[in-house]
Parts: sequence; C-alpha cells; structure tokens
Amino acid sequence: VALKEKTLEILRGTKASYVSGEELSKRLGISRAAVWKHVRALRKLGYKIAASPRLGYHLVAAPDLLLPAEIKSRLRTRYLGEKVIYFSEVSSTNDELKKIAAQEPEGTLILAEVQVGGRGRMARKWHSPFGGLWVSLSLKPKMAPSEAPKLTLMTAVAVTKAIREFTGLNAVIKWPNDVLVAGRKVAGILTEMAAEADRIDYLVFGIGINLNLKLADLPVSLRKEAGSLMAEYGAPIPRADFLAYLLKVLEDEYEYLLESGFGKLLQEWREYDGTRGRRVQIETPEGKIEGVAQGIDDEGSLIVEVDGERRRVRSGSVSMITSS
Ligand code: BTN
Repeated sequence: VALKEKTLEILRGTKASYVSGEELSKRLGISRAAVWKHVRALRKLGYKIAASPRLGYHLVAAPDLLLPAEIKSRLRTRYLGEKVIYFSEVSSTNDELKKIAAQEPEGTLILAEVQVGGRGRMARKWHSPFGGLWVSLSLKPKMAPSEAPKLTLMTAVAVTKAIREFTGLNAVIKWPNDVLVAGRKVAGILTEMAAEADRIDYLVFGIGINLNLKLADLPVSLRKEAGSLMAEYGAPIPRADFLAYLLKVLEDEYEYLLESGFGKLLQEWREYDGTRGRRVQIETPEGKIEGVAQGIDDEGSLIVEVDGERRRVRSGSVSMITSS
C-alpha cells in the first residue's frame, strides 16, 4: 500500500510530463516489474495512467478518491492532516483514531471511503456509504475538559464556514453541531474525549459530511431530515479539494482560539445559528423540553425559553417544530 501511494505521489508531482520507468524504479527502490504492478493497482482504482515504452508513465486523470497522496498534495495546513491514515472500508474512523490518538501527534487524520459501523451522537447509527466524507481528527489542546464543548462548536463553525465558502450554499448550525442546508442535515460531528480530572489528553472529532451522496443513497427513514451537498449544490463536489479546504479553515479557527480565546468563535457560531427564535423540542438526559431557542451562552449551552422562563441546556438533541 505504501509503495502504491508513493508511486501516486511521484506521478502527481510530475504534472504535465512523463516519468520514466527507470526513474520510478530508482526513487521507489524497486524493480521495473514491481513499478508496473503498482501502476496496474492504481489503474484498477480508476487512475488513468498512460504508459509509453519510450517516455514512461503519465497521470492523465484521477478518480475522486481520498487516498493520502490526494489529500497531501492539496494540504495547506501546518499540522492538521500531517499524518493521514486511509481505509477504503472501516467500521468507524472514530474508533480507529481512539486506538492510536494518545501516541500519534496532534492533527492525525483518519478517513474512510465507506464506514460499516459509523456512529452518530446519542448512540445513533451514522449511515456512511461511498461518496461522503467520513473523517476523524485528533487535537490535544492544553485545556480543562470543561472546555471541550466549545471545541466541538469550533468544528461545527469550521464545517459550516467551509461549506459556505466552497459552495456558496447557505449552511447553518443546529445546536450543538449539526450543519443544515435548506433545512436538511448535511453534516454531523461526534466528539469523543480522553481526559484527566484537570486536563484533556486528546479529543477525537468525527466529522461526517453527506458530500456527494444521492438522496437515494440515504435510507428511507432519513430522507425527510437528511440531505446532501451534491443535491443542494446541483453537482458533485471534489472531495479531496473540499477536505483540504476544510482542514485549513479548521486549523485557522483552532490557532486563533488558542491565541485569542473563544470570543470570535462564539460570535461566528451565533452568526450561523439556524435555530434562534425557532420553536424547538429537545431531548435532554433529564427528559424532553419544548420552548423557543434563544441562542447559546458563553459556555456553549443552549438557552431555551420555556413558558416565559429561560433554561440552560448543556446537552441534548434538538428538533425544530414549525418551519418558518
Ligand atoms: C451526529 O450528527 O450524530 C454525528 C455524526 C458523526 C459521523 C462521523 S463520520 C466519521 C466519524 N466516524 C464515526 O463513526 N462517526 C463520525
């Protein structure tokens, strides 16, 4: 797998021109026959690679895959995604990252083309067929565990901002961190934490974006609430380009808050708030409540007005009752 990746990296790096079989074999430290084997493996994945006996190899067209070489060649971040681990299929990228996050550097990224055991918040399943973006990312901020909810808000802000800037779609946030377009959920975030009493060891942010899904790819039970960016945008979105863009937005948000605190982030979250003033029903660990959403306080808790009384909700799942 590593050599196939390296072959792709070299072919990507040479852009318009050919790389000779001899050069490839030298740089990879393998025989010309072995080079040919990796080229064949890449072709099988959908890469169009021209092979000329005289000139060598040339990458003509690439499929929309999320192979690390595809991500790395586009990244403009300093440390987010410096280490990328790829699965064509995995149970859950969050579960994989939790196994290694303590040892691996901050910013390690795991992604999968397909998840068969994708998990959502509140112990729900997360449907993860080919075409979406299913990624997990680790951060190790030197902060108290009580700050973690605000870092989840950060991730929601970054996803929303990236969607807005990359596609022009009017993405909004449904508290705490669902991203909606045209009233349908297109992305969700599952944050998991390992911590001591007074400090975070690591956070794993699992980001699921229904990027290039057809509505028919979604189970019938979800079709009313869930949507996809492709359906709203009207065309497929290049996934590796979008992911590289998202990681840059996310790293900038993170850097800014490490240096300057959560002020700007809370302000951005409020700007993207799609539930403020709406009648909502919230499933909380203490039971269901119904009222009018009033936005978030400085800790990231949702304020809801219930029968004229303001209540703070720290965790829960919101549904909007009326559409207005
Ligand atoms: C939610 O809205 O309930 C959160 C959904 C989070 C889904 C992502 S996809 C990548 C990562 N791996 C998982 O198993 N879940 C998260």
